[in-house]
Amino acid sequence: MNKQLLKLMQRPQLYELSSDKFWNDEHISKGMLEAHLNKDWEAATRKYDFVINSVEWISSIASPSLKNKLLDLGCGPGIYTELLKRKGYDVTGVDFSERSVNYARESAKKENLDITYICQDYLELDLEEKFDVITLIYCDFGVLSDKNRRLLLKKIYSMLKLDGILILDVFTPLEHEGKKEYKNWSYSNNGGFWCKKPHGLLESFYRYENNTVLNQSIVLTEDELKFYNIWEHMFTCDDILSELKAVGNWNVELYSNVVGEKYSDDSKVLCAVARKV
Ligand SMILES: C[S@@+](CC[C@H](N)C(=O)[O-])C[C@H]1O[C@@H](n2cnc3c(N)ncnc32)[C@H](O)[C@@H]1O
Repeated sequence: MNKQLLKLMQRPQLYELSSDKFWNDEHISKGMLEAHLNKDWEAATRKYDFVINSVEWISSIASPSLKNKLLDLGCGPGIYTELLKRKGYDVTGVDFSERSVNYARESAKKENLDITYICQDYLELDLEEKFDVITLIYCDFGVLSDKNRRLLLKKIYSMLKLDGILILDVFTPLEHEGKKEYKNWSYSNNGGFWCKKPHGLLESFYRYENNTVLNQSIVLTEDELKFYNIWEHMFTCDDILSELKAVGNWNVELYSNVVGEKYSDDSKVLCAVARKV
């Protein structure tokens, strides 16, 4: 284990994978579901008031009476999908977290909402159906490697109808402006977010070229070592426009967030509304 730990204390290769699944870990996924469902946290879903305004805005720029078929990628436990369904969209949600999708399915049943949920990695999605609107919300696009972002955008482009709309948000470089690299050790006697057993935690923040950062958490218990690499690529306006352009033709409008505020240079988030042409 020492050898592995020593290796892990060195800077990881760009886009090196985690040792274990984050969103589908039995323990971590419980904490993340709790975070999704807490209306006042910004951890997994944005605060509920924001989500409500977001759904209002989406339905104002892509009216459900004209653009009815909506696909929500990374839908989590269905916070957006349920509100979108109530707005009148025909909604499909995709997420690879079994715990979240199970929750979403149960909740839709209880609320008598006819929503289709698919439990799958959206990078492996292979649907025949075409959609009027595709959403990818809360900066999930930026956690993917360059290669996987291209792959996902190609898939999205092919799943959109002509004149269909992609709505996605990403962080800008201001999100981590001025933040220096660090490594912090801590010990938890009673378990915590990462692990329910007593464990040591080494949390590191690394910067890479081209506006990419890594939040790495190494979790060490008596008999196990796991590490989670959470990558984040941040985008300037030109970056997002050129990644979109690389997969097809779009008319793109940029905003400061997924409630449609005007884009400004001091925004930490960039929301692209890309219409397939
Ligand atoms: C930050 S949460 C955002 C959830 C939701 N969009 C919202 O704003 O409430 C990211 C979600 O995307 C899911 N996810 C991440 N990568 C995925 C992938 N490759 N395929 C499917 N789901 C993914 C996670 O399980 C999680 O539910």
